[in-house]
Amino acid sequence: MSVTRKPKVLFIGYGHLAKSLISKKLLSIVNIHALNSKGIIKNINQRKKISKFDNNYNYIFLLTRPNTFLTFGNKFQKYLSKKSLVISCMAGIKLSTIEKILKTKKIIRIMPNVMATNYKSQTHIYTKNKNYIDSNLKKLLLSFGTIINVRNEDQVNFATSIFGSGPAFIAYIVNIFVKASKKLSKPYNMNEKEVIKLFKNVLDINYTSKMLDVFVNSISSEKGTTQSGINYIKSQKIEKIIYTTLHKAYKRAKEIDSEKKNRKFK
Ligand SMILES: NC(=O)c1ccc[n+]([C@@H]2O[C@H](COP(=O)([O-])OP(=O)(O)OC[C@H]3O[C@@H](n4cnc5c(N)ncnc54)[C@H](OP(=O)(O)O)[C@@H]3O)[C@@H](O)[C@H]2O)c1
Repeated sequence: MSVTRKPKVLFIGYGHLAKSLISKKLLSIVNIHALNSKGIIKNINQRKKISKFDNNYNYIFLLTRPNTFLTFGNKFQKYLSKKSLVISCMAGIKLSTIEKILKTKKIIRIMPNVMATNYKSQTHIYTKNKNYIDSNLKKLLLSFGTIINVRNEDQVNFATSIFGSGPAFIAYIVNIFVKASKKLSKPYNMNEKEVIKLFKNVLDINYTSKMLDVFVNSISSEKGTTQSGINYIKSQKIEKIIYTTLHKAYKRAKEIDSEKKNRKFK
């Protein structure tokens, strides 16, 4: 595709998530400008600042923190044209709120995660109008990894908890296991890469919840070492801990939109 015919994209906000959406694949299919808090716009493909913006963007990604959008969002109206489709990646902020602040109905919500840069985001998409997801946009979103369409806006809040924040929860839990394994076998300097490989190996051969249940039972012989460990984990109410972790993130996503109460949108 020639440079001039590539769709034009504006990232409003260029922080952790925005940077992790950038990949060679994405840059090969779109031209990206990115705006930061100082009002500076950079051409990401050409790695240079641009002196004046042109509001001819096909896609405008909302990548600021929700609070920033609720406070300054109306200042972003000037970047939109009639053809612009707004793609919000923000946790919690509802379509109806974005409509009021940006004065447009051409909006979809997506929930990618930071693994997009490795093509491993399982990006959830919510739209009221399926026609917004044209072939260019599909290609763009597929550059992040896989896509999952959801029918109800509240499903974006579940996706925020499980697929947006979830990678951090999983990394934290795996790391606890790695650190505990090293502590237990301290005199022998356990290789942590082998412990991480153990996680991958278990998941390589068990890819459903049922398989994992059967796998646990197949190792846990009566009065054996596994059973003594499993009984201890269960007694510590680990299911409740994990459920509450996910529920807290979901509840927080739902709260965010109501924080607009004290702000006026004109
Ligand atoms: N991080 C994740 O894993 C993740 C996953 C899914 C969804 N999200 C959502 O993605 C959004 C961004 O999260 P993040 O972690 O990337 O946050 P972040 O690292 O704090 O990035 C926020 C960006 O917004 C910019 N910004 C602040 N005020 C602005 C303004 N008035 N105009 C233009 N840009 C402004 C900041 O600019 P400066 O660089 O100049 O400060 C920064 O680049 C959030 O809404 C979050 O809910 C994040």
